[in-house]
Amino acid sequence: MARAAAELKSVAEEARACTRCPLYRNATQTVFGEGPVHAKLMLVGEQPGDQEDLAGRPFVGPAGKLLDRALAEAGIDRGKIYLTNAVKHFKNEPRGKKRLHKRPNRYETEICKVWIDKEISLVRPVLILALGVTAAQSLTGRRTIVLSHERGHSIALPDGHRGMVTTHPSAILRMPDETARRAGFAGLVRDLKAAAKLAG
Ligand code: URA
Repeated sequence: MARAAAELKSVAEEARACTRCPLYRNATQTVFGEGPVHAKLMLVGEQPGDQEDLAGRPFVGPAGKLLDRALAEAGIDRGKIYLTNAVKHFKNEPRGKKRLHKRPNRYETEICKVWIDKEISLVRPVLILALGVTAAQSLTGRRTIVLSHERGHSIALPDGHRGMVTTHPSAILRMPDETARRAGFAGLVRDLKAAAKLAG
């Protein structure tokens, strides 16, 4: 355990200096994963957003707040899970004083996979829950993910780990009306509960 924790720390340190793709140029810092080194459940998001980029921690902005509410409703302690992202730098386009979120492309996601692979091999979670399509593509290696069909089911990942996919919290925030947002939130809670049950 102490050895894995030390290795994870040193990988995080290495990732801090990552220039493997151009995304580091517009970002403040690398946002590495966080959580107990041998967490049974790992959650993987897309990439840090504006607030995560500034804070240096995953899921601390609006999507993180929604995720925190869903975790609480699912009875999952955030302190007991490992939270990370498929891409470790905030991809954005500066627009005046704002930085507009841009979805990472396939090249950026694939090149960043080296870090998540290291996190997975050290944490060795029982179940990895992909939040949204980018994380699901990164973890499965597949280009096509049909969230509406695939969500909530246990799947085998190419590296032998057990996985599951669900909606990204940001997608719920972007839903057009309160009814859709409520249904989206309930779906996320349901999938979180299923993931936690499988993780044990
Ligand atoms: N969205 C993500 O996918 N990850 C974060 O850390 C924050 C927002």
